[in-house]
Amino acid sequence: MKYLVTGASGPFATAAIEEFLKIVPAQDLILMSRKPEKLEKWAKLGCATRYGDFKEPNSIEAAAQGAGKMLMISGYEVGHRILQHGNTIDAAVRAGVKHIAYTSYYGKDGVDDLACIDHRGTEEKLKSSGVAYTSLRDGMYMESIISAFLPNFYQSGFWITCTNGGKISMADRLDCAACAVHVLTSEGHENKIYEITGNDTWSFDEINDLAEEITGVHIEYQDVSDQEFYTYMKGLGIPDDSLEEFNVNGLAWCLNDIMSSERVIRAGGRDIVSNDIKTILGREPVKFRDFMWENAERLRAIAKQNAKN
Ligand SMILES: NC(=O)c1ccc[n+]([C@@H]2O[C@H](COP(=O)([O-])OP(=O)(O)OC[C@H]3O[C@@H](n4cnc5c(N)ncnc54)[C@H](OP(=O)(O)O)[C@@H]3O)[C@@H](O)[C@H]2O)c1
Repeated sequence: MKYLVTGASGPFATAAIEEFLKIVPAQDLILMSRKPEKLEKWAKLGCATRYGDFKEPNSIEAAAQGAGKMLMISGYEVGHRILQHGNTIDAAVRAGVKHIAYTSYYGKDGVDDLACIDHRGTEEKLKSSGVAYTSLRDGMYMESIISAFLPNFYQSGFWITCTNGGKISMADRLDCAACAVHVLTSEGHENKIYEITGNDTWSFDEINDLAEEITGVHIEYQDVSDQEFYTYMKGLGIPDDSLEEFNVNGLAWCLNDIMSSERVIRAGGRDIVSNDIKTILGREPVKFRDFMWENAERLRAIAKQNAKN
């Protein structure tokens, strides 16, 4: 059995490839990327490396030749992904792929949630395509707190939010990648949707307190109204709609996404606990508190580098 991994140059794919190589020989992996030259390390081990872009279905069909299963790692062009992923699913099926695992996103049904629109649309496409599928609704990566959220807050000195104490569960990206590999390399995961997230939940002020416990650096936490939050974020120069490659201090989102995310959290849409990681991997998920303490040195360095005097 050969396994195709899409978007193979990214951090998620890298973790998944390392996990695959614990279970299957390198010769069983076909790694697809828009920049296959970035995959030389894996090619040297014996993996096949091929060009493929979700925007070019023919490239997917060519990349998927010989693959029986596919790990489809979601792309990042919000609003365009249902079409891109749908074309990719069709092309993979034409090439003979029989089982697709997909990195989806978590969120409760019935909550208006911009971040989930593309993912639920892709899940519908998977269901209607007739291929065996496994949707992995990954929780927010714990890594995002360290690399995306906190550096900005250390710089400004403030964590401004309108989540009003709403809680989120999270997941270690390595757990997410391990689950994606295990649903393809073991039996019994066909046509299932899993919530790949931890079994404890955190509000933003609890996360802020934990960060201070570890670094000793204080961030002023303020829960404000939607309008005040919008005005504050707008003042940072973040546009309402997503712009190609837009980035403010590492924040690549647009305000529509950010406002939606805050409202979803406030409405309890990411307050999801699950035992699915344990069901798939046979061990407990990494806990957020442990993750933060394991990254204590890195977090202290980020706080020191970014914090105001
Ligand atoms: N749960 C969370 O909190 C969270 C946070 C961030 C991201 N995510 C999702 O998880 C995915 C993987 O995460 P990551 O950390 O590895 O993120 P990443 O660095 O954004 O990687 C995404 C991968 O998507 C691939 N990709 C982008 N556009 C593509 C296209 N047109 N055709 C084919 N592949 C394309 C890229 O592959 P190549 O460059 O190799 O072609 C890239 O390696 C992301 O794509 C995103 O949807 C989830």
